[in-house]
Amino acid sequence: MEPRWSPRGPLRLPRCSACLLLLLGTAGFFQSYAVEVDVKDASNATCLYAQWMMSFLIKYETNSSDYKNATLSLSSNVTHDGSICGNDTQAALLAVQFGEGHSWSVNFTKTNETYQADFITFTYNTNDTAVFPDAKRKGPITIVVKDTMHPVQLNNVFVCHNTDSIEAENVTQFFWNLTLQAFVQNGTIGEKESRCDADTPTSAPTVLPTDANITTASTTTLSPAPTTVPKPVENPDTGNYSLKSGNKTCLLATVGLQLNVSQDKPLLININPKTTSADGTCGNTAATLRLNDGNSRFIDFTFVVKNASANVRRFYLKEVNVTLLNHINGSVILSADNNNFSKWDASLGSSYMCRKEQTLEINEGLQIHTFNLRIQPFLVKENKFSTAQECSLDDDTILIPIVVGAALAGLIVIIVIAYIIGRRKSYAGYQTL
Ligand SMILES: *[C@@H]1O[C@H](CO)[C@@H](O)[C@H](O)[C@H]1NC(C)=O
Ligand SMILES: *[C@@H]1O[C@H](CO)[C@@H](O)[C@H](O)[C@H]1NC(C)=O
Ligand SMILES: *[C@@H]1O[C@H](CO)[C@@H](O)[C@H](O)[C@H]1NC(C)=O
Ligand SMILES: *[C@@H]1O[C@H](CO)[C@@H](O)[C@H](O)[C@H]1NC(C)=O
Ligand SMILES: *[C@@H]1O[C@H](CO)[C@@H](O)[C@H](O)[C@H]1NC(C)=O
Ligand SMILES: *[C@@H]1O[C@H](CO)[C@@H](O)[C@H](O)[C@H]1NC(C)=O
Ligand SMILES: *[C@@H]1O[C@H](CO)[C@@H](O)[C@H](O)[C@H]1NC(C)=O
Ligand SMILES: *[C@@H]1O[C@H](CO)[C@@H](O)[C@H](O)[C@H]1NC(C)=O
Ligand SMILES: *[C@@H]1O[C@H](CO)[C@@H](O)[C@H](O)[C@H]1NC(C)=O
Repeated sequence: MEPRWSPRGPLRLPRCSACLLLLLGTAGFFQSYAVEVDVKDASNATCLYAQWMMSFLIKYETNSSDYKNATLSLSSNVTHDGSICGNDTQAALLAVQFGEGHSWSVNFTKTNETYQADFITFTYNTNDTAVFPDAKRKGPITIVVKDTMHPVQLNNVFVCHNTDSIEAENVTQFFWNLTLQAFVQNGTIGEKESRCDADTPTSAPTVLPTDANITTASTTTLSPAPTTVPKPVENPDTGNYSLKSGNKTCLLATVGLQLNVSQDKPLLININPKTTSADGTCGNTAATLRLNDGNSRFIDFTFVVKNASANVRRFYLKEVNVTLLNHINGSVILSADNNNFSKWDASLGSSYMCRKEQTLEINEGLQIHTFNLRIQPFLVKENKFSTAQECSLDDDTILIPIVVGAALAGLIVIIVIAYIIGRRKSYAGYQTL
């Protein structure tokens, strides 16, 4: 789809040369799509950037005069006409249009130090018979609601993975996996990050009920490991995972995963790649790989690009979120999130590799061990990994043979010298006789 642009501002027309609209299905709470909008200014620098997911629960009156709830999600035909960069005097505007005549926008204001969302305008069209098959009143309905977002420091990217909702006039709007920055300066996104309250680590690591739940929930792979034997005999199998954007691979991962759950008893869980599926979102500056092991275990890896220096941009693993659900009733057994990592660091355009076991400490109750890791969350070309930057641990695998080899060589030299000295001594002995 070709985004068309009809800038509203009389001056300073924003242009869109590389606006990206990335649409990926995800198996979330709602079946939905991630949208990415990258608005460029006249100098071709990003001035407004957002990636998020949203859906709507709408109560409407039917032709038989009762009320029904409809769920409206973003479909694949999304455009973002009319988005505006904004400046000191003009509000910035993020606007998308989707489906059969629906549209959504939010405007932003700035002060000298902060920016903030102002009003959300949502128009849904009850002529969309797929969503509102029996609506009494047919046509567009617009609601305007004040956004609840707190002010964000200028130059900070606002990130909120948790779901937020706003309810007004028969509509509940849900937002999640949000990354947003308005009034971007010098085209540089995400130098610093502001997190929503719901994402902060103090509220996230909640270790819920006992492992009695865990063992009954899944008897197959979640064996209660005996306390005396801390590790299962086998390492986990290595899985290959990938994400696509359209028909192009945009993220590649090879990894074997093992969870170490420390509740009442320690438990080691190998993630079985054969039953594990991958989804998530790709992006220019952030990407999330979500693994679902088919046994109600979800592991999200979020990677971000850091813009430390414009020439050598790097990516790293920023966040890992693990959720274990009860098989039978879906209640949460364990939910742990750590968004403070700076691991698996490599330059943008390359892949990161670490064959040796590595440990990610999610919180005091949960570790993830990774094996045979290779990951490329950005700029995948031709469905293949680019050159790898290896972890220092892997360098040890080369170092150890060198050290051992050197030691052996030294030993041989010593033995040879000792032998020669010994022979000389014995010759000397014979000569004196
Ligand atoms: C803007 O940038 C994009 C890619 O960054 C490039 O393809 C395009 O030619 C640029 N346009 C102008 C007018 O500089
Ligand atoms: C519609 O959703 C609202 C809010 O979740 C709920 O209170 C109401 O009972 C639902 N109505 C119907 C008809 O399902
Ligand atoms: C934001 O949009 C709302 C609704 O269209 C409007 O009432 C409000 O004035 C706008 N805010 C600014 C700062 O332009
Ligand atoms: C309500 O609309 C549906 C779908 O258009 C139609 O099948 C049904 O007959 C209508 N019912 C009434 C009472 O008009
Ligand atoms: C972690 O993932 C779970 C399950 O998808 C989700 O409900 C939760 O909000 C996520 N937490 C964070 C902090 O991202
Ligand atoms: C943007 O660039 C200008 C001039 O190069 C510089 O003075 C300013 O500090 C930069 N701002 C940010 C937020 O990087
Ligand atoms: C994963 O990919 C590697 C390299 O492409 C391949 O050698 C291996 O067989 C794959 N493993 C599985 C389980 O598909
Ligand atoms: C599992 O985690 C616990 C607590 O952090 C730790 O003491 C234990 O050594 C870990 N086990 C393995 C096999 O890594
Ligand atoms: C789910 O099942 C477990 C045990 O099977 C129980 O402890 C827990 O309370 C249940 N949760 C809900 C929400 O029913």
